[in-house]
Amino acid sequence: MRILVVGSGGREHALAWRLARSPKVTELFAAPGNSGTATLATNLAVVETDIDGLVDAALDQSIDLMVVGPEIPLSMGLYDRLTSAGIPCFGPSRSAARLESSKSFARDVLDAADVAGPEYRVFRTASAALAYAEHRNRPLVVKADGLAAGKGVAMCANLEEAKTAIAMCMQDRVFGEAGEAVVIEEWLHGPEVSVFGFTDGENLSPVVAASDYKRVGEGDTGPNTGGMGSYGPPAFWDETIAERIRCEIMLPVIREMASRGAPYRGALYCGLMLTDDGPRVLEFNCRFGDPETQAIMPRLMSDPVEAMMACATGSLTDIDPVAWSNRPAVAVVMVSNGYPGSYETGLEIHGLDDNSSHGADSLVFHAGVQDAEDGGGRLLTSGGRVLACVGIGDDVEQARDHAYRRASEISFDGAYYRRDIADLRSAQTAPAR
Ligand code: AMP
Ligand code: GLY
Repeated sequence: MRILVVGSGGREHALAWRLARSPKVTELFAAPGNSGTATLATNLAVVETDIDGLVDAALDQSIDLMVVGPEIPLSMGLYDRLTSAGIPCFGPSRSAARLESSKSFARDVLDAADVAGPEYRVFRTASAALAYAEHRNRPLVVKADGLAAGKGVAMCANLEEAKTAIAMCMQDRVFGEAGEAVVIEEWLHGPEVSVFGFTDGENLSPVVAASDYKRVGEGDTGPNTGGMGSYGPPAFWDETIAERIRCEIMLPVIREMASRGAPYRGALYCGLMLTDDGPRVLEFNCRFGDPETQAIMPRLMSDPVEAMMACATGSLTDIDPVAWSNRPAVAVVMVSNGYPGSYETGLEIHGLDDNSSHGADSLVFHAGVQDAEDGGGRLLTSGGRVLACVGIGDDVEQARDHAYRRASEISFDGAYYRRDIADLRSAQTAPAR
C-alpha cells in the first residue's frame, strides 16, 4: 500500500517510522514531512493546511491510505474531501473533529454520554463570563472554545487572573474566532494521563496511556510548552483503570457521536485527570498526542496499516485486537534555548545519527530539524522543540537511561532538556491518591 502521512513534527516522524516497519507498506510519503521522515519516506512539498494540495497529492501518487497527524487539516475537512475523492483517511471527519475543535461541543457530548468532566459553564459574552467568575471567586480554568494552538487554556488562581483571561479572549480577541465563546471550569487536581485508542466509529481498540510533561522546567515549573517529554505506561496505570476509561468514558463518547450522525473514526485521544473523586475528562483530541506518539509508537505491536485501515474503511472487529507492548518507553524532548519564548534557529546539531545505526533500545524523532541547504549533510535546528530521544527498556528506569544516554550524544548550542522525565520520584509520576 502507498501511504501518505500528513504533518511535519516529531509525532509524524514517529508515525512514519512505525508505518515503515509494516510489511504492508510499499511506498511511504510525507507532506510536508521533515528531515526525519525524509530518511524513511518521500517528502512532498505540500503544507498541512493546503487541503486542495493534499487531495491532489494523494490522487497524483495513487495513495491507498492517508494518515493525518495534526488536528488542523481534520478540522478543515480533509477527511471529507478525501472520502469524496475515494481515498481512505485515518482521522475523523470535520464534524467528528469538533470533539477537539470546539470545547463547548465536547462538553455537550460528555454530558449527553453521562461522562464526568470538571464542573463548567459556557459563555458567549464577556459580561456574563465576568459575572460568573466574580460569583464563583475561586480558582478557575478559562478556555477559549476553539482551536488556539494549545495556548487557549488559562489556569486562573484568583479572580484577577480570571478577569484577565476572559478579557484577552473575548475583548482583545487574541485567539480570534476561537475566543468567541469561553468555557469556564473548576480547577481540578491530580495526576494527568493521555489515553489513546483506535476507533472505527463504533468499536474501540484496547487503549494505551502516556504521561505528558507540559511545563518547561524540572519539577513542573515555568511556562507551558507543546510538551517536554512523555512516558508510558505511567506508574499509576493498570488494566483495571484502562478498561474503566475505555468502557465508561471513551466508548460512551464514541456511541454518542454515532447517534448524532457524526461517527468518530481514527485515533481518539482522551486527556484525563485522576482526581480523588475518580477520572475526569479534561479534553478530547482528534489525533495522537505530541510528544506522546513518540513514546507509544514503539509500543504498538499490531500492524499499524491494518489497524488504521480498519478504522478508515472497515471494522475493527474484522482484525485481531490491537496489541500494545508493556515494555516502557520514555521520550525526552530537546528544545532550543529560550523556548517556549523566542529562540535562535539554524544552529548545527551534532551527534544526530540515523536510527538504523543504533540498537533497538533507543530512537530519535526529528521535529524542528532541517537539512543545511549546502547539501553537505549537516542538520540544523529549525524550531523550538527540536527532537525527541526515546528509550525503550524492561522497566521505566532502564527506558529512561536509554533515552538520556541517546540525548547525551546529541548537542547544539543552547540545547536544553528536562532531566526528570519519567523520574518515578517526581510528583507527576506519583500514583493517584
Ligand atoms: P486542555 O487543552 O483542555 O487539556 O488543557 C490543557 C491543560 O490545562 C491540561 O492538560 C491540564 O494540565 C490543564 N487543565 C485543563 N483543564 C483543567 C481543569 N479543569 N483543571 C485543572 N487543570 C486543567
Ligand atoms: N501532548 C498534548 C497534545 O498533543 O495535545
